Amino acid sequence: MVSLTPLQYRADPAADLARVEKALREAAKTDDDFLTEVASHLIPAGGKRLRPAFLIASALSLDVEGDKAESLTEEMVRGGVAVELVHLGSLYHDDVMDEAETRRGIEAVNHRWGNLTAILAGDFLLAKASELAASLGTEVAELLAATIGRLCEGQVRELQLIYDVTRNEEQYLQAISGKTAALYATSCRIGGIVGGAERAVIDQLTEFGHAYGMAFQVVDDILDLVATDEELGKPSGNDLREGVYTLPVIRMIASGDPVRELLGNPLDEETRVRARAAVVGGPEIATSVATAQSFVDKALSTLQDLPATTGVQGMRDAATNLLSALNR
Ligand code: IPE
Ligand code: IPE
Ligand code: MG
Ligand code: MG
Repeated sequence: MVSLTPLQYRADPAADLARVEKALREAAKTDDDFLTEVASHLIPAGGKRLRPAFLIASALSLDVEGDKAESLTEEMVRGGVAVELVHLGSLYHDDVMDEAETRRGIEAVNHRWGNLTAILAGDFLLAKASELAASLGTEVAELLAATIGRLCEGQVRELQLIYDVTRNEEQYLQAISGKTAALYATSCRIGGIVGGAERAVIDQLTEFGHAYGMAFQVVDDILDLVATDEELGKPSGNDLREGVYTLPVIRMIASGDPVRELLGNPLDEETRVRARAAVVGGPEIATSVATAQSFVDKALSTLQDLPATTGVQGMRDAATNLLSALNR
């Protein structure tokens, strides 16, 4: 699988993430064995755990002695689990929407147990996330609830324009801001809150997370076009299949390219392969990479006046390295 460079926010983040991992597995457990099985399905399968890592990095960002195991508090672990649970729940629902067969290199929940079970288990994970967030105080609880709302808004904006060849860049950016950037922004914000940062810094961390998340989704959308199923651990080419026209496709249509004639309706396999090859061979992949780079630059500029702690350095490196997933 293509794995984005993990977030090296201190010399050994593995020990922190092991604590998050243990708590994450606990959070997906219930009295009902079947629900536990379904809700836990994707956890051991992998995933980069980027959202908890950014939360912890943000929490430690002002800690000049952050590179010490004892800096990791129980609140940071709980925050990390809460944001990963929101992400996980959203993947369950997203795979229903995308009719995905695989996720994280294994069978997707909807494919294995059906849409109804996937929706309910996704709801369960979101509920667990809310419960954990509530234990971190009203501000965090409100923030996470609002973020789940933003995620739904982003997904609905996308859904409203599937197979729509007039979808424009502004509509695309608005959708990815809700469905992806909002949770990265919130992960960094909760980190700043539980880490005790002052308001101005909390806002900078939030802005970093948002810009990183924008770049992250643009990269994910490019990878959907240029990478293979095996590299992604999820079906590639799925955006075109489902009628989700992402940045390179939107730009190619806007340029007047004849690819437009192939799009606008569900595609048979052969046409889909042709459309995908046209987009992959066009200049819009490179201009979309440049757009991702400009979000990375924006992310980096938000951290400019923060001290060079290991936390901040890890966040900078993660942003800088994001595009290396495309240089394969
Ligand atoms: C996938 O997110 C969904 C998107 C926002 C593109 P990740 O790429 O972070 O998924 P995992 O957690 O590593 O599987
Ligand atoms: C991200 O978009 C969806 C969520 C934020 C849940 P995608 O639909 O591109 O995610 P993948 O490619 O299926 O992981
Ligand atoms: Mg999807
Ligand atoms: Mg995708």
